[in-house]
Amino acid sequence: MEIIDTFAEARSLNRGTVGFAPTLGFVHEGHLSLIERARRETDHVLVSLFVNPLQFGEGEDFAAYPRQLDRDARLIESAGADVLFAPAAEEMYPVEPATTVDVAPLAAHLDGVARPTHFAGVATVVAKYFAGLRPDQAYFGRKDAQQLAIITRMAADLSMPVDVIGCPTIREHDGLALSSRNVYLQERERDQALSLSQGLMAAADRVDAGERSGPALELIVRETVPTFEFEYVAVMNRATVTPLAVLDRPAFLAVAGRVGKARLVDNIHFDFQNGEVSVDRGVRLTGPSLLYEQ
Ligand code: PAJ
Repeated sequence: MEIIDTFAEARSLNRGTVGFAPTLGFVHEGHLSLIERARRETDHVLVSLFVNPLQFGEGEDFAAYPRQLDRDARLIESAGADVLFAPAAEEMYPVEPATTVDVAPLAAHLDGVARPTHFAGVATVVAKYFAGLRPDQAYFGRKDAQQLAIITRMAADLSMPVDVIGCPTIREHDGLALSSRNVYLQERERDQALSLSQGLMAAADRVDAGERSGPALELIVRETVPTFEFEYVAVMNRATVTPLAVLDRPAFLAVAGRVGKARLVDNIHFDFQNGEVSVDRGVRLTGPSLLYEQ
């Protein structure tokens, strides 16, 4: 695997179809699943690793975000990447950008409320990757459902020549969605953190049993884990990221809540084929995540 740190180097790469997975680093099996899928579906696999200051708000964990390039490079290579693009901030933002991308209507709910500048920061950096690295297929996790919806819409609105592909959420063996932030959890906080996936899985079962009401599904989540304080529980239209009353089109059920120092998000996706709904609950690891390896 080659490690590069400029867009100019990316331009001279060996092409064929290029598959791309952007990351903030401190990678885990969730990130690796995107890289492995890109490996299967494209000729040349490019991964980026950059802790993008533009998407962190005041008081968020930008400075504390774990930075471990050697560890990450080894794992990213073993998942099948050909090139790791790990730029310095000066390469990404030589001057403060006058041009930014804000998919504002899709950022009005959910995480856009608690993090009002976050999604413009994400959309802007991903637009730069798409322009500077020119991938054919870009792989994103369904774990970040609102982010995936926003990037999908941005690419369509701006006629970007890239297919945005959403991939299933990878979960720890007990159901907790994998997140770099899980390492912040104290042992007793894990039980609380499990409330998110427990609520979602109960709702998933009810959808399988025929429930189609958005508000009813939200209530099931809350009643399954009545002591957990959710920041939100919401069934959303995937195309618009606005509330959906009846499950009759592509959607997701998203939850968020604070556990100790960590703010956790999780969701399940609802796909439609021939009018039939199927629930994407994600995929569970069978053993401990590499997040906990020293
Ligand atoms: P990061 O949080 O590092 O996530 C990188 C990619 O991995 C995203 O597409 C995210 O949805 C996916 N991912 C994270 N956890 C996952 C899990 N448990 N299962 C499946 N996929 C998972 O998201 C970002 O970085 C940034 O906003 C970025 C897109 C890189 C822009 O800076």
